[in-house]
Parts: sequence; structure tokens; C-alpha cells
Amino acid sequence: MASFRQNVRSSWWGRAVLTPWRLKNALTTTLPPVARSFAWTFRSREHYNYSYDLQPLNLEYLAAFVAAITGVPRKVARNYIGEIENDVALKDHVVRLNLSHKERFVADAEARFGRRMGWYALIRARKPRIVVETGVYKGLGSCAIAAALLRNAAEGSPGRLLALDINPEAGYLLTKPYSEVGQMFYGDSLASIAAIKMKWISSSMIAIIRPSMRPPKKS
Ligand SMILES: C[S@@+](CC[C@H](N)C(=O)[O-])C[C@H]1O[C@@H](n2cnc3c(N)ncnc32)[C@H](O)[C@@H]1O
Repeated sequence: MASFRQNVRSSWWGRAVLTPWRLKNALTTTLPPVARSFAWTFRSREHYNYSYDLQPLNLEYLAAFVAAITGVPRKVARNYIGEIENDVALKDHVVRLNLSHKERFVADAEARFGRRMGWYALIRARKPRIVVETGVYKGLGSCAIAAALLRNAAEGSPGRLLALDINPEAGYLLTKPYSEVGQMFYGDSLASIAAIKMKWISSSMIAIIRPSMRPPKKS
């Protein structure tokens, strides 16, 4: 029987018979992400700085990543991520401000923090005194960072967020209570960093550098 199967597999007609099976294997792997991308295109309104949900497996990888680079146990890192996943006050804040802002047609009616949950967990794990965010846009990441800093402060480890953006309209989500631990600096990040007293910055600093940061346009 085994040798009959082997002969079928190796024959030209065996190859033809196996084609639907191979196609099924390929499509069951590749089609679900396409379907999810399609659904996201209509569910999300963001066109520039995408917000999205993380899948359960993504969250486990994120917790493992935070644990590996901060030294906290993976379970502790996963619990930190759980804090922001379940932070109803933070989500309500984001949705309320998004829906009352002129950007409401290109802002999501749900708060989806995506990768920013990793920033939250990093800050909970390391408890930095200063966090620098270079590039803020609406301030979704700033709110996640500030929420972590508020929790750290409640546990006796206060810290501040210095949120930098070149766009004078950036950061509309960073209002109270999150603005109590964070402030906006407008202008080119490099100039802002130079203007911020460097003596604030010690080994307890975490700098979140946005890859999309670019030099300001010359006028
Ligand atoms: C991808 S968005 C930031 C997203 C944000 N960190 C978040 O979590 O949602 C990039 C931001 O960087 C800002 N930016 C780009 N170049 C900059 C520069 N040279 N200095 C300061 N901000 C800059 C843009 O105005 C934009 O708001």
C-alpha cells in the first residue's frame, strides 16, 4: 500500500491529483490574513497612522519580547499588556476625543492600541523617569505611555512624557488626566531634544524613536 502511494505521488498523474490538496494548503494559510485586511479596510478609518488589534498570538510574542529585553518574567509582562487591554477609562478618553474632533471622519470610533501596548508594558516594566516620544500624531501612543506613567506614579515611581512633534496640531488626545504626566513640544524633534535640558536624561530614560521621523522641509 505504501509503495502504491509512493508510486502515485511520483507519477505525472499523481501530481495532478495532488494539485487541489496543495491549493487547499496554500489558501488556508494565505486567505485568512487577506480576509482580515479586507475587513480592516472598511472597519478602520485611519489612513496615515494605522491602528489595529493584535491577535492573541501577537500578544504572547509581545509579552515575550518585553520580558526578554527588560528582564521581568513573561507572565508579569503579559499582565502589563492586560492592564492596557482592559483600561476602559483610557479607551473611553480616546474615543470621546476622536469623535468630537474635526479629524473624526479619519479617526477610529474604537481605541485600538496595537503595538503601542508593547510601549505601555516596557514603561511599566522599566519605570523610567523620562520618556521621549518623537512623533506624536493624534497622541494615541502618548496616551498609552501616559497611562503607564500614571500607574507607575500610583505605585511610587513617577515619570514624565516629553512628546515631540513638528505638526502644531499634533497631540489633541493628550489632555487630562494624561497631560498631567506628559507635555507636548512643537518643532523638529532634534531641535526640541537639544532645547530640553539634557541633564534630565539619565540611564532611566526610554527614547521611542519613530522610524517615520524625517528632517523638516526647507522653506
Ligand atoms: C507615525 S506618526 C507618530 C505616531 C505616534 N507615535 C503614535 O503612537 O500614534 C509620525 C509623526 O511624526 C511627526 N514628525 C515627522 N517628522 C518629524 C520631525 N522631524 N520632528 C518632529 N516630528 C516629526 C509627524 O508630524 C507625525 O505626527
